Amino acid sequence: MQLTTVSENITTKFYKDVMKGLQSSSKYLESKYFYDDHGDDLFQQIMHCDEYYLTDCEMEILKNQSADIASTIFASEKSYDIIELGAGDCSKSVYLLRQVLKRNKNVTFFPVDISKHVIDLIKEELPKKVRNLNIQGLNGEYMEMLKKANQLSIKRKLVLFMGSNIGNMNYKQSIAFCKEVRSSLKPGDCLLIGFDLKKDPKIILDAYNDKQGITREFNLNLLKRINRELNADFSIEKFSHFPVYNPENGECKSYLISNCKQRVFIGDTEFINFDAYETIDMEISTKYSIEQINHIAGKCDFETIEHFYDSKQWFVDALWKCV
Ligand code: AVJ
Repeated sequence: MQLTTVSENITTKFYKDVMKGLQSSSKYLESKYFYDDHGDDLFQQIMHCDEYYLTDCEMEILKNQSADIASTIFASEKSYDIIELGAGDCSKSVYLLRQVLKRNKNVTFFPVDISKHVIDLIKEELPKKVRNLNIQGLNGEYMEMLKKANQLSIKRKLVLFMGSNIGNMNYKQSIAFCKEVRSSLKPGDCLLIGFDLKKDPKIILDAYNDKQGITREFNLNLLKRINRELNADFSIEKFSHFPVYNPENGECKSYLISNCKQRVFIGDTEFINFDAYETIDMEISTKYSIEQINHIAGKCDFETIEHFYDSKQWFVDALWKCV
């Protein structure tokens, strides 16, 4: 059994990305930076919120249908390595990994995550939940780590991109991303990709506006991270969390609103001015229709093998094969 981590240096990139976002005419921050240690913890809490249905729906799919998913994948091939993009706590993928191990003893699992803390936890906890699994953790960004996994494995690939992580892109970006993933895979490789489906807009908005205020904390935590790591002086109480859902394009977006005209220093010399009620675009969580999902598959040279739904049909894990 092998347990290693490949890390990349992201400290200076964090500063550049923050400045670029806050100096832009329409201010934004990149949601991938939510996931520092406390952000990881807050996201765990979000997943347990009553209003946040996504995890429960996909958990139901993986708990009940992992055997089906594995049989479908192994119908034509005997051996795969598995790469999970945005692996998190692997609480859903464990069900599939157990089923895969029954069919393929020497599989290697490459969990990819932006958080080093998450990768360390996986290496500690996953061997207890799935025995005899080769695990090679990859700490970094999706595409860079997918390429790294490709250098480390010559086997046929099963890529897992679950949890509606694709939702952190708008529709156009998600097509470009799936094309990029496809270009680093070979015909016969598979992708299991989780999409949150369009549904009652009130249910969607509530999922990003929980009563306990954990999602609010999750957004504000990025300002705290910038304060700590980049020596900034955001007054957290001068920003409000404001999520909106647009049922026409399926975009759920979280904004932080500056409550007043203010100036924030990032380090000793650089500063950012905010007007009263100016927005920082923090995160997008796109919701899809089945037509859009099929359109993305076709556009990116994937063939749809099967759609796995939860009982409410609020979420789908699409199994695609590279053609
Ligand atoms: C991890 C990107 C799937 O967009 O639903 C949850 C992150 N943000 N609540 C999502 C998130 C606020 C989540 N993803």
